[in-house]
Amino acid sequence: MRLESPTTLAPPPTLAPGSATLRAQFPLLQQVIHGAPLAYLDNAATTAMPLEVMDALQAFETRHRANIHRGVHSLSQYATDDYEAARATLHQFVGASAEHELVFTSGTTESLNLVAQGLWAGGPDQAWLRAGDEIIVSGLEHHANLLPWQQAARQSGAVLRILRPDAQGRLHVADLQALLSPRTRVLALTASANATGERPPFEELLRMAAQAGALTVLDAAQAAAYAMPALAHIDCDLLAFSGHKMHGPMGIGVLVGRRSALERLEPLRLGGDMVAQVRWDGADYAELPARLEGGTPNVAGAVGLAAAARFIEQVGRDAIAAHVHALRAQAVQGLARIPGVRVLAAHATQSALVSFVAEQGHPHDIGTLLDARGIAVRTGHHCAQPLMDHLGLGPSTRASFAAYNTSDEVERLVAAVAHAVEVLR
Ligand code: ALA
Repeated sequence: MRLESPTTLAPPPTLAPGSATLRAQFPLLQQVIHGAPLAYLDNAATTAMPLEVMDALQAFETRHRANIHRGVHSLSQYATDDYEAARATLHQFVGASAEHELVFTSGTTESLNLVAQGLWAGGPDQAWLRAGDEIIVSGLEHHANLLPWQQAARQSGAVLRILRPDAQGRLHVADLQALLSPRTRVLALTASANATGERPPFEELLRMAAQAGALTVLDAAQAAAYAMPALAHIDCDLLAFSGHKMHGPMGIGVLVGRRSALERLEPLRLGGDMVAQVRWDGADYAELPARLEGGTPNVAGAVGLAAAARFIEQVGRDAIAAHVHALRAQAVQGLARIPGVRVLAAHATQSALVSFVAEQGHPHDIGTLLDARGIAVRTGHHCAQPLMDHLGLGPSTRASFAAYNTSDEVERLVAAVAHAVEVLR
């Protein structure tokens, strides 16, 4: 009665990135907005969901919906099987090995909060972070990989150090070398910066930090849909990502990492399903992964996320990566030709997004004029305000690409930005 299907499906040749067949899998894209076909270019915020994921959600809700792990009745067992099969699919999707364990969370934000809080919450005697320790966070981070570390530093008395990007928004290994010290306990950084598209040399940065004895944390939210790193091949203790940025449901995400690192985390969701033994005056926690998954989890979300991972594997990660990189290159080239437009991190070829500012034209005005032509982009600080300040910028306009976007949509984007800049001059 499993709803899961095998993870080893051969890629159907018809699901080529950018093809009409692939686009037909996404009902969201089949819409007309303000009289124009929707060009959905806000994928760094949230991606569209294919029918295959919707079908998996519906099958679970229709046939297997029940609470997991606690029931002897058949539906509870089917639901438990679905949930654990989803865990196995995602374990494989991230290239984890036997030393890794995978925990479901509500998303990247919860995963990173669990790490930062969990390293401290055990109290001064057990905590990984103590007064005078050092936490290094890169300056490219989304607020979700900065604020939890600010709080952990405040609570533990650790010192927060920032690995600052250069004026073009690049991180350099020599700068990390200079920051590392015998007190460095954590390095937290992104695999792909959501505000600029910068792809830092995270493999080397993680390796250096691991060699210095730090716990290494990678935010892979922006990489998940096309460039998920193989966990077993990088020096990463803990990796976080979200379902909704890789064509899966909202409200589901993952924290995956070395069992030894996850075991350091004090559980933050205390309650049912995460305990082995409970007394009036105390409790023994369950083994991983249950230990960090207190309460009824988002079982349908996990099933949907596994379906999304299978969808990405069917289309092919390399094919998706080549496609979004080409769309980004086309967008950079077209936008850079518009007078007064400056593209951020124009050097970043391994990116799926383009962020830009215009001398004349506030991003919100540009975004509104683009929307009038059916083009969805994001405007603002992209939850990375310190980075934008560091680059001497305010808000920007960001177009971000996924497997279903097309070269025609990029042409429409460039023409609409040229028009908006002209109107706002
Ligand atoms: N983190 C999302 C973004 O970058 C919302 O837009």
